[in-house]
Amino acid sequence: MEQSVTTERSASLASETAEAASPRDKKVFVKTYGCQMNVYDSQRMADALAADGYRPTEMIEDADLVLLNTCHIREKAAEKVYSELGRIRVLKEERARHGRETVIGVAGCVAQAEGREILRRAPMVDLVIGPQTYHRLPAVVQRVRTGEKIVETDYAIEDKFEHLPAPERTSVRSRGVTAFLTVQEGCDKFCTFCVVPYTRGAEISRPVAQIVAEAERLAEAGVREVTLLGQNVNAWHGEGPGGSEWGLGRLLFRLAEIPGLDRLRYTTSHPRDMDDELIEAHRDLPELMPYLHLPVQAGSDRILKAMNRRHTVADYLRLIHRIRAARPDIAMSGDFIVGFPGETEEDFQETLRLVREVNYAQAFSFKYSPRPGTPGAEMENQVPEPVKDERLQRLQALLAEQQSGFAQSLVGAEIDLLLEKPGREPNQLVGRSPWLQPVIVDEKAGKIGDIVRVTITRAGSHSLFGETVRNVATLQATEEESV
Ligand code: 5AD
Ligand code: SF4
Repeated sequence: MEQSVTTERSASLASETAEAASPRDKKVFVKTYGCQMNVYDSQRMADALAADGYRPTEMIEDADLVLLNTCHIREKAAEKVYSELGRIRVLKEERARHGRETVIGVAGCVAQAEGREILRRAPMVDLVIGPQTYHRLPAVVQRVRTGEKIVETDYAIEDKFEHLPAPERTSVRSRGVTAFLTVQEGCDKFCTFCVVPYTRGAEISRPVAQIVAEAERLAEAGVREVTLLGQNVNAWHGEGPGGSEWGLGRLLFRLAEIPGLDRLRYTTSHPRDMDDELIEAHRDLPELMPYLHLPVQAGSDRILKAMNRRHTVADYLRLIHRIRAARPDIAMSGDFIVGFPGETEEDFQETLRLVREVNYAQAFSFKYSPRPGTPGAEMENQVPEPVKDERLQRLQALLAEQQSGFAQSLVGAEIDLLLEKPGREPNQLVGRSPWLQPVIVDEKAGKIGDIVRVTITRAGSHSLFGETVRNVATLQATEEESV
């Protein structure tokens, strides 16, 4: 249930009423922090507000409603929000001097975790809304505009997916040829370092029919690559036609049948939920890109146990062996935490050993950040900051070496590229390799949305460079004609 903190009308609101701007003229600026699920949620919030006449703007100074969609995963991520709110306060005051109201909202996981505390630390915030209640956002904004301050962080009983409007064809098109699609939310795993089970709540899976309908709508609007999202995406399960139980593998087989969806991805996975059917999907589905983000977090069984990961290093390696046997060109990606409480140099050496054994194409690594309310924060033997810093540096040097080794290994190879957007230079286009690397090609390679075959000529520090061999779509058409 929402709570009204104050019902005083603010001065800026009074001048807004005097200005009597029509709600149709309103603009919303959404800034997104953190994971891809927040990117998806931000789009859906914008969709929900569009129905109330809010148009998105890229210019924060023009915005009548500023929403920060926040991340609480590490302390640094949460603190960034407060510094941004400091800058926005100045903006709000400046706009108020010109008689323009600015509603400021904090959404996402900081909103969920800190709730009312946000209003105490940043009193110019008007609304605080947690991730489970975004479908109520338009109503909340309307109430805020009559002078209330609202904190809305209760878990909704109703399914938020049911209530959020479907993305419009036009708005989907303007977002390009790749899209995220949330299929699962929340987590029941309770790793001892992680806030997600507290901020995103218990694990829920979206029903098959809803997912298929959204994927079809995306494909109709010209999206060619869909990334299925979930904090624990491979724990997704649903009821298929006839009451059969589906896992993520089965869902991927179904989505691959949708005309126009040429590429499928999913993230983020837990090693314990990689089942046989999902591995078969990697073996049998050309649409499923050969890239797997499978966080392990640490390479020492002792630390994995303290983290409550409920798998060993040997389990993880066996799993990767099976996945690579099914799909030999798969690129592995992972997440690592250094300096979890009790981690010794020997434990850390085991993490380096695991990294050498797996050889990652991509990885994300973090210093352990104690999060209030999680068991890890209460543990003794917290590792001193300078030790964490030094371990992170060593780990990142090794991971960077592997990442650039992988990129270099592609020089001279022919690969398929989905052209996504214009490049930085006027005559360039940027596409993505099957392994998620940006690849820069000449604009003559094709048009955005085409899949083209290119030869990789060079690997830079962040992107690859390619020369077109042919446009795969055109090639397929000519092959069909000549049959
Ligand atoms: N400290 C550091 N890193 C963390 N992650 C999650 N919680 C913490 C924390 N408290 C990392 C994990 C996870 C990724 C999304 O963020 O590696 O997989
Ligand atoms: Fe956090 Fe662990 Fe759940 Fe991942 S599996 S969201 S790290 S608790």
